[in-house]
Amino acid sequence: MIKVLKGMKDRYFEDIRKYDYIIDSAKNVFSKYGFEKIITPIVEETELFERGVGEETDVVSKEMYTFLDKAGRSITMRPEGTAGVVRAYLQAGLYKSDPLVKWFYYGPMYRYEAPQKGRYREFHQVGVEAFGVRDPFADAEIIKMGCEFLETAGIKNLTVEINSLGNSSSRQRYTAELKKFIEERLDKLCDNCKTRYKKNPLRVLDCKSEACQEQYKNAPVLKDYLDEESSTYYEELKKYLELLEVNYVENYRLVRGLDYYSDTVFEIKSENLGAQSTVLAGGRYDKLLEILGDIQMPGIGFAAGTERIALLMDESLLKEEEKPVYVVYFPETKEYALNIIKILRENGIKVDFDYGMKSFKSQMKKAGKLNSKYVIILGEDEKNENKAVLKNFDTGEQEKLEIEKVIERVNGDV
Ligand code: HAM
Repeated sequence: MIKVLKGMKDRYFEDIRKYDYIIDSAKNVFSKYGFEKIITPIVEETELFERGVGEETDVVSKEMYTFLDKAGRSITMRPEGTAGVVRAYLQAGLYKSDPLVKWFYYGPMYRYEAPQKGRYREFHQVGVEAFGVRDPFADAEIIKMGCEFLETAGIKNLTVEINSLGNSSSRQRYTAELKKFIEERLDKLCDNCKTRYKKNPLRVLDCKSEACQEQYKNAPVLKDYLDEESSTYYEELKKYLELLEVNYVENYRLVRGLDYYSDTVFEIKSENLGAQSTVLAGGRYDKLLEILGDIQMPGIGFAAGTERIALLMDESLLKEEEKPVYVVYFPETKEYALNIIKILRENGIKVDFDYGMKSFKSQMKKAGKLNSKYVIILGEDEKNENKAVLKNFDTGEQEKLEIEKVIERVNGDV
């Protein structure tokens, strides 16, 4: 039998109810903050991610699903949403007329990672991007919106971590110092850090190995290398977060795995997720639009993995779905039943029945399994009298009624 690909999952029943709940929460919260929905294609030119996300990042150098299309162009299945949304903003020329645009999106993303709990090769993100504003107040508001979204989706006990990466010149100065620091202890570090530090030194600080973290205890701190503008920006961000009553902790080691960030970065984490503790992550990317489109325009956003939210969400928030009314019929009343089913549905009633002709007993059993509150029985007598037997499964009562009465009774109960 052909099976679903490793790291990917078919989703149905409970998974779908959770996913829909997450998306509804996102739509409700984001629209309150003036964000509108955007849909971009799942595939883009590979170069978009190489230039946007950064060739040295793990995502681009190791994890992309890349292939040649029939015309020989290199195409990639998006590993994240920001680059595509930035491309759409640039392509639409929105920066010329009304640069302040606030968008949200959701959909599948693809990364060829080693699968584990909370980490998949096909996963789904809900994300937001805001263009045209560089003001710490906007950063604070977006972090607040991320918290509100996760709370609405039923997640508690989260930690908001923030940091500032400063601008590129302060980051360069810091990176040079950090490299020197790492080189002095290289023999004590794990293989991953040994290779990583050459191309992407900031990322070593994220290493999960305790031995490496022990070595990094006294590593230089990026905060000390920020220039005055970035420093003031960061202090103002904290002030606005306090004003908006966002509880945060500062994590000077927070660096993020994608290259486009500058100044504000943040992650929202949960202790209950194991190794993949980050539920929502994002930051400011004031140089990305210049890199991709030669346009100087600031941007900020975040994305959250819906699978991780689903692992954490309070399931009691999922409303019990309205159960269908189950129609039981007989070979002689098939046509009568089809007509009654049509009328019931026209009157807004959710109806289910068996397509294949089964015995009365097995139809009743199916109704019980579906947890239907009502069963409508359509036998020969009912057909001749143009009526139906309505059985209330909760009380066990049953009554022969005119069809209009059945509709009234069922609809009146909803
Ligand atoms: P990211 O940190 O790569 O950022 O991913 C954001 C979130 O997507 C993670 O915190 C996690 O919840 C989820 N996620 C990532 N990889 C996986 C995976 N393999 N399996 C399951 N969930 C995963 C971004 O993607 C940026 N585009 C966020 C952003 C938007 N920054 C600015 N705007």
